[in-house]
Amino acid sequence: MDSLKNYIETNKERFISELIELLKIPSISADSAFAQDVVDAAQTVAKALENAGCAHVEICETSGYPIVYGELNVDPALPTVLVYGHYDVQPPDPLELWESPPFEPVIKKDSLHPDGAIYARGASDDKGQFYMHIKALEYMTAQNILPCNLKFMIEGEEEVGSNNLSTFVKANREKLANDVILISDTGMIANDVPSITTGLRGLSYMEVEVIGPNRDLHSGLYGGAVANPINILIKMISSLHDENNRITIPGFYDKVEDLSEEERAEMAKAPFNLEEYKSALDIDAVYGEKGYSTNERNSIRPTLDVNGIWGGYTGEGAKTVIASKAYAKISMRLVPHQDWEEISDLFTSHFKSIAPEGVKVKVTKHHGGQGYVTPIDNIGYRAASKAIETTFGKTPVPQRTGGSIPIVALFEEELESKTILMGFGLDSNAIHSPNEHYGIWNYLKGIETIPYFYKYFAELSQ
Ligand code: BES
Ligand code: MN
Ligand code: MN
Repeated sequence: MDSLKNYIETNKERFISELIELLKIPSISADSAFAQDVVDAAQTVAKALENAGCAHVEICETSGYPIVYGELNVDPALPTVLVYGHYDVQPPDPLELWESPPFEPVIKKDSLHPDGAIYARGASDDKGQFYMHIKALEYMTAQNILPCNLKFMIEGEEEVGSNNLSTFVKANREKLANDVILISDTGMIANDVPSITTGLRGLSYMEVEVIGPNRDLHSGLYGGAVANPINILIKMISSLHDENNRITIPGFYDKVEDLSEEERAEMAKAPFNLEEYKSALDIDAVYGEKGYSTNERNSIRPTLDVNGIWGGYTGEGAKTVIASKAYAKISMRLVPHQDWEEISDLFTSHFKSIAPEGVKVKVTKHHGGQGYVTPIDNIGYRAASKAIETTFGKTPVPQRTGGSIPIVALFEEELESKTILMGFGLDSNAIHSPNEHYGIWNYLKGIETIPYFYKYFAELSQ
């Protein structure tokens, strides 16, 4: 593939400007005000796939946002790779913390990104990452050197739980049949420490409501005499962790697999600098479950976090009031073998059981998904490892991440294939946060690496 680097060098300005056009579309799946934009993004992706030489592209309607599906069959004797990604993005708020508007992409340089980084919502998660696959495809079809059959499936509801994609996958098992699934929607340790993600955490996302008196009350006239839903909610949430920061929900840890000392020692070899970690976040100490390192806490251990909490008066000045209701959104990150529906049920009954007299509690389930771990002794992992070695000049480190892509476990269940998580983002990309960005170096490196994955996967499949 002598011409690959040349091709990228010659076309990089266009690769960047095409991505910038896609990033201008505010495809926020969580907010129905942007419904038309989400659909527009699907159409843009479909066109990009066609332009890159994908022979057969469809926009598959669902009861939510469409799935962009593409197929390119080279030879039935060759292996088939299914590429998955998502064109929807997280809401950009709080807007005032963005240095440039989230859907007006700009390129800025800093010490981590001497070649510049594109700042926009979705730059790294996941538009910039799946678009690398479309540009890698463009190169391979232009040179007529595609060594695998390809299927593309780019959805628009990943950030809201992929419910319609689950239905689509279950209904289209033959159409989606493949030898391996390839996803770029995760990160690497650093640009000079490439890694391949070998595990994802599961997720259970809940909302709770604590209901006190039938109306907001004067906090002087009634204060001290009735349960204050906000006080109670805080007390209940505080009790969900013990003094060692372990989760107190009965049965929560029953299915959690403890790693062997060997596995933990292996994990501890991944480069990690605690001082840099703290200083990047402006914190003077890390915090978490007793007995585990930072990298263990955020990957192989389950967690429970409040994502939002509200109730009462939060406007300007002071209002003396006891609110009638208090609310919180609570997520639990899970590890393989913990079943998200079962954990959601455990949470629900426990949370209801700890409510004191004087309040009512409502618990609702949002979305969730199972965790995933993949072994590294399969040809998919080996192909990714060789590809990264070729373009980075270093063997990648296997690493379990704390994030979730719930559909991956379903792929394994329904399509019976392994997923290779070959992502090129960095933790510092600020995904889901203000000022999300994606390094241009990472973008181009991804485009360079992907064709080698196909090459080695085809060779190793023989
Ligand atoms: N791409 C992320 C997941 C991710 C990012 C994994 C970086 C590892 C490293 C994905 O888009 C995401 O945000 N997933 C959600 C779950 C979903 C159900 C909303 C998450 O992890 O919060
Ligand atoms: Mn993503
Ligand atoms: Mn995301």
